[in-house]
Amino acid sequence: MSKIAELNETVELSINGQSYSFPVIVGTENEKGIDIDSLRAKTLYITLDSGFKNTGSCKSAITFLDGEEGILRYRGYSIEELAEKASFLEVAYLLYHGELPNSAQLEAFSRELEAEAALPAGVDKIIDSFPQDTHPMAMLSAVLSVLTGYYPESVNPNPDGKLAEKLYIQLLAKMPTLCAYIYRRGQGLPYLPPNPNFAYCENFLYMMYGEAGKPFRVNPTVVEALDKLLILHADHEQNCSTSTVRIVGSSQASVYSSVSAGVSALWGPLHGGANQQVIEMLEAIKADGGDTDKYIAKAKDKNDNFRLSGFGHRVYKNFDPRATIIKKACDDVLSAMGINDPVLTIAKGLEQAALNDTYFKDRKLYPNVDFYSGIIYRALGIPTEMFTVMFALGRLPGWVSQWKEMRDGGEPIGRPRQIYTGYTLRPFTDLNKR
Ligand code: SDX
Repeated sequence: MSKIAELNETVELSINGQSYSFPVIVGTENEKGIDIDSLRAKTLYITLDSGFKNTGSCKSAITFLDGEEGILRYRGYSIEELAEKASFLEVAYLLYHGELPNSAQLEAFSRELEAEAALPAGVDKIIDSFPQDTHPMAMLSAVLSVLTGYYPESVNPNPDGKLAEKLYIQLLAKMPTLCAYIYRRGQGLPYLPPNPNFAYCENFLYMMYGEAGKPFRVNPTVVEALDKLLILHADHEQNCSTSTVRIVGSSQASVYSSVSAGVSALWGPLHGGANQQVIEMLEAIKADGGDTDKYIAKAKDKNDNFRLSGFGHRVYKNFDPRATIIKKACDDVLSAMGINDPVLTIAKGLEQAALNDTYFKDRKLYPNVDFYSGIIYRALGIPTEMFTVMFALGRLPGWVSQWKEMRDGGEPIGRPRQIYTGYTLRPFTDLNKR
């Protein structure tokens, strides 16, 4: 892997006539950052950057994205090539180990996942204890943390490489089983354990829709589309939920608890929860007569808190390459399944209207990964409230790979500073006249 360029480049900061010098760090794709590690010690100043829009939290070798050019690569491989030529398990191996697996490594990896796919006895009863209409993301986050009770070694604050890899296998193997049962809990259906005759994605669909003892067949187009969707969601550098996983993991909390926190962060409608919001938005537009212009106007109206879900991105100021791939997969899956979904027509109309509107063009707002994914999930028969769980299922390899990189790098506990704006010292006023 190419090394970070060793440059002696520095930047100067002048405060009250005194000049301070800070080193510049240059990444392998020539991104530059000012290393302010010594800023407060030298100047007593800190930086302030709400939402971390200009702040790098770490160095990472896992995912590269260029928001201006619409580039996304996992460990140097383009998302377009991986979506076209790799399987989700190959990508899950690549993200964690840094290299694609050869056939023997892939075979061993698949076998290890198969051996760990079942839920420990009793976990289904915990899921059964939740109110049936609990949101699936709440159930997923809760159960992931509880799994530390079944795997006490996962609480080890300093897992070595062997244990960390075992925890990764456990999480990657159990996520489909967990997600499938969480779906079935919502449908009032019994737990269906994994079937060793099925591969990863097929097994997930079996555990969702199958019946014990009955033959199960699924359209290969559906399996292929699901595998591709999981690849497209597998990692995305320091997004909100991955940053959450890294900061929780930086306190040496277990990887299970760190991923549980990542699930909670992903749930928000500004992040992974957008895929559920997109379908609810498209459905509302359809119910309202399909008037996309009305909703474009609402999205632009500063007095209206309506936003076009699935549009805009903190980093991409060009097309989200994943949206382009998913949009094509949408057409392929719907035509292969003979589905004519009117919300797809509305989505395309909304996209065209927005892309030709100066409000969106000026703000470089394009469809993101969440804009079309919900339409495919819907075609696969997945209920809307499960869409963000599907995002978490895809993102699991990225979360754990980033957690591992943070732990291997011996990064310090994450603890940002602040600028205090509250009261200065004041004497206690006894309002109760004791
Ligand atoms: C994901 O970070 C990642 O990588 C995330 C992700 C991943 O793989 O992990 O890619 C997955 O979370 C994708 C994003 C899903 N969220 C949505 O689709 C929700 C709708 N999008 C927006 O809420 C918004 O675009 C964000 C949250 C995604 C980004 O917000 P920013 O970067 O903080 O930008 P902003 O809110 O400051 O918006 C800048 C301007 C504002 O207008 P002005 O104040 O300049 O006039 O753009 C406007 C915003 O009002 N704007 C929108 C809009 N998104 C931004 N206006 C209408 N509709 C929108 N969707």
